[in-house]
Amino acid sequence: MNKMSNSNNLLEIRDLVVKFKTEEGIVNAVNGVNYSVPEGCSIGVVGESGCGKTVSAYSITRLLPKNATFSGQILYKERNGKVTDTLALPAEGKEIRRLRGRDISMIFQEPMSSLSPVHTINNQLSEAMILFQNMSKQEARERSIELLDLVGIPNPSRRVDEYPFQFSGGMRQRVMIAMALARNPRLLIADEPTTALDVTLQAQVLKLIQNMQNEFNLSMILITHDLGVVAHMVDYIYIMYLGRVVERGKVVDIFDNPLHPYTKGLLNSIPKLKGKRGERVSSIPGTVPSTYVVPVGCGFAARCPYAKEQCFKELPDRVLVEDEHEVSCFLFNGGEVKEDAANA
Ligand SMILES: Nc1ncnc2c1ncn2[C@@H]1O[C@H](COP(=O)(O)OP(=O)(O)OP(=O)(O)O)[C@@H](O)[C@H]1O
Ligand SMILES: [Mg+2]
Repeated sequence: MNKMSNSNNLLEIRDLVVKFKTEEGIVNAVNGVNYSVPEGCSIGVVGESGCGKTVSAYSITRLLPKNATFSGQILYKERNGKVTDTLALPAEGKEIRRLRGRDISMIFQEPMSSLSPVHTINNQLSEAMILFQNMSKQEARERSIELLDLVGIPNPSRRVDEYPFQFSGGMRQRVMIAMALARNPRLLIADEPTTALDVTLQAQVLKLIQNMQNEFNLSMILITHDLGVVAHMVDYIYIMYLGRVVERGKVVDIFDNPLHPYTKGLLNSIPKLKGKRGERVSSIPGTVPSTYVVPVGCGFAARCPYAKEQCFKELPDRVLVEDEHEVSCFLFNGGEVKEDAANA
């Protein structure tokens, strides 16, 4: 097994496949995903609901339910340079718990799912610092207050002794960001961190995450179904469809030169501020196929205006079209951009 990782990458997911056994049959959640996070960089993972964004991310720290089976490699470069395949670690062992405790932090969509209702904010923030950073209770409490202040909670020295239910939704989201930072992580995974918030709060929380990322020099995976959200937040974008990555590239290339018909559809569905009044946002016709069947060929073929017979039968290879810009689509097969595809 090749465990050499590209030395610039903090994390590299290779050929990740995740399936769930259910009473109705096997759910093919992730069908061979590849993505990497260069050190100090941030990536956005974008795609419609159900395409496997969360399941891929949860695989990194092995937060998968018991009915999951998986294969592939998730190579994480540790602080000492050693590369660990987190998929190969025992699910509840010391090593993966250590990575969760001090290397890889997650911010979830719904803060109450990761905040305990019966412990004070101080207890929850301090726990990882006492456990993994050898802090005394008093030191951890002081740092907790500092962190609450940093994420914009007023009166932090009083509020640190309150319980999550005493905080509003937006404030809880801030507490969760503070909790992620308390672990002094190297990689932050933010899974739809603002979907549950109203629009003004969304902008504030995204700004906060961005500031924290710069201040702590974190690498980040930002998961969202909204391309508009990632535009100003990340260095690279990965577009997922039906459990696979269909296109990846630098943000500017994805926006200025989208290649995959699905990416173009996503871009067209971003509401344009300057659009004419009453103009409808175009959405991509058709529905996402069932995850009970592994797609033969390109998963997007059934919805693709350019699909030909081959697209339903074979899986297109990844093709490097320009620097760091790859697509899996037969329109670009052979590495040459066909005129009709480039202008489509
Ligand atoms: N525990 C589970 N058991 C069975 N199927 C599951 C389980 N968890 C996820 N799935 C299925 O796996 C697929 C991928 O789910 P995932 O949560 O990764 O999607 P997503 O891209 O994060 O979507 P969303 O944007 O709605 O969060 C979906 O079809 C989902 O129903
Ligand atoms: Mg999700």
